[in-house]
Formats: sequence, C-alpha cells, structure tokens
Amino acid sequence: MIRHLVSITDLTEKEILSILKNSIKLKQKLKSSKKATEYLKNKTLVMIFEKPSLRTRLSFEIGMTQLGGHAIYLGPTDIGLGKRESIEDVARVTSSMSDIIMARTFSHESIVKLAKNSSVPVINALSDLEHPCQILADFQTILEKKKKLKGLTIGFVGDGNNNVTHTMLLGAMMLGINFSLASPKGFEMNHDIVKRAKKISEKTKTKIFETNDPKLAVSRADVVVTDTWVSMGSEAEKDKRLKIFKPYQINSTLMHFAKKDAIFMHCLPAYRGYEIAADVIDGPQSVVFEEAENRLHVQKSLMLFLMNMLN
Ligand code: CP
Ligand code: NVA
Repeated sequence: MIRHLVSITDLTEKEILSILKNSIKLKQKLKSSKKATEYLKNKTLVMIFEKPSLRTRLSFEIGMTQLGGHAIYLGPTDIGLGKRESIEDVARVTSSMSDIIMARTFSHESIVKLAKNSSVPVINALSDLEHPCQILADFQTILEKKKKLKGLTIGFVGDGNNNVTHTMLLGAMMLGINFSLASPKGFEMNHDIVKRAKKISEKTKTKIFETNDPKLAVSRADVVVTDTWVSMGSEAEKDKRLKIFKPYQINSTLMHFAKKDAIFMHCLPAYRGYEIAADVIDGPQSVVFEEAENRLHVQKSLMLFLMNMLN
C-alpha cells in the first residue's frame, strides 16, 4: 500500500515517534559528517508549489541532495494545477516518472486529489487546512529541548483557523500534549478538525482549551507558539486582520504567564512587531531557527519512511 502524508493523522503515534527518532539520528550523522547517507540514490522528488516558500523548498531540495537523490521544482506558473491540466492527470503523469511528490497548494482538496491519483507517496507541504511537515519539525524541536512530549502543554496565540494551528492540535492530541488556544472571535479553529482532535483526546486523555484571552492560553505553558496573522491566501483581509489581532501579540509581558523555562516557537516567516515582539523571537527563549533547521532533518526521515527505507 502506498503511504501518503496529507494529514498528520495519516501517521500513527508510533510512526511519528519513529520518524522523529530517525530524524535526530540523521541530524547527528550530518553534523558529524560521519557517513554518506545516499539512501535515495537515483530517486527523484517532484515539488509542486502553488505558493511561495523559503524553508519548505530549501529543506526538501537540500534533503534530497543529501540523500543522494534529485529534486525538481515546479512553481506556480509551471503546471497550472487544475487549470491547464486536471489534478488527476497531473498526479498520474508525475507519479509515473518520479518516486515521491510533495505539494504546497491553496486548497487542501487539491492534495487529497493528488494523493488519490498518485502511484507514489504524496506529501502535504502546506495547504489551507494543514501543515504536517512543519509540525513534525516542531515536535522534534520540542523533544530535543524538553526531552519529552507527553504531559507538556502548548499555548498557541493567534489565528485559530490556520494550517499550523490545526496540525499542531491534532498532533498534540496524538502525542499526549495538552493544547490551549487563544484566538479572536471569528478566528476559531475549523470545526471538523476540533471534532477529530476531541475524538483522539478521549483516547490519549489530553486536554483542549479554547479561549479569547491570550493570558489564559499561555498560562503555565511549556511551549508558546504563534504564526502570522495573515496566511498565504488571506492577503485581501490584511488590514482588517492586523486590527483584530492586535491584542494577540506575543511579547515579554505575555511570556511571563508561561512557565519560566518555556520555549517560544514560530514556523516562520515572522512579522516582528505584529504577532511577535522582536525581543521574544530574538531572545533566549526562542528556538525558531533550530525549528526551521529541523525541517531538513525530519523531512529526510519522512521521505525514507514513506519510501519504506527507514532503518
Ligand atoms: N515554515 C514554512 O513552511 O516556511 P516556508 O513558507 O518559507 O516554506
Ligand atoms: N499559516 C502560514 C504558514 C506559513 C508557513 C501560511 O499559510 O501562510
């Protein structure tokens, strides 16, 4: 059976932990430049982007190079996904020649369709609904910093109806991490995602807490997180959003409500002075650049897992 990563819930808890463990190994190997890791020699990754990217493109392309394979970049004007050609046909053609596909799309449904019609693994590299690669890197970073995942509390402040928020909630529930969110009225998380998360939380005995008060959300948190107030695709609402989200900035006053040893995370790109104050993102509690680097390691591990080559 071909495995895809469309939603973080396509993986089991055990599989996530194994991907993280192998990622940490690959990272150590790379840092000590001990041994070549050409596990994907002569393999090709096709990268489909409908939106801009720095980290995702770099980490997948460099990751593939480090694994001995090759990556092809197809940008927004290359394919015309669903316009020049149907998504189904794009999936059939691309998977007939390549070994693995990653896609960053506007609509989540586009990735679902790509996966349905592909004969090779398809990875969601961000859709309007989820960002699973980011959350794998985030959990690796939390694990490295806190030495555990189970029992921790994440305090997320900002846009609830956001790909990063959704995947972090689902992943947190799977791994036994409590999740608190503060978002303004009208920017709550997607109802179906919360329903799915609640179902998982019943099994893992994990708590979800939703509020409009940022102080309550970060109170006693081990990990404080935010993301841009204006995600790709919402640019038309920029002025309105900047006003509504103003009380939701993470700054040093808000950080005082979290645990003393709390870490600060942000998937980047970040907008200093808006969702995050410069002294926090550039301060001692911030782990954002290690978080960004972990995209490289964890996606190498993910590709090996999906291609049945995780050792
Ligand atoms: N965090 C993240 O996905 O970054 P890019 O949009 O630059 O790829
Ligand atoms: N929520 C952001 C994440 C960027 C990596 C967006 O979708 O633009």
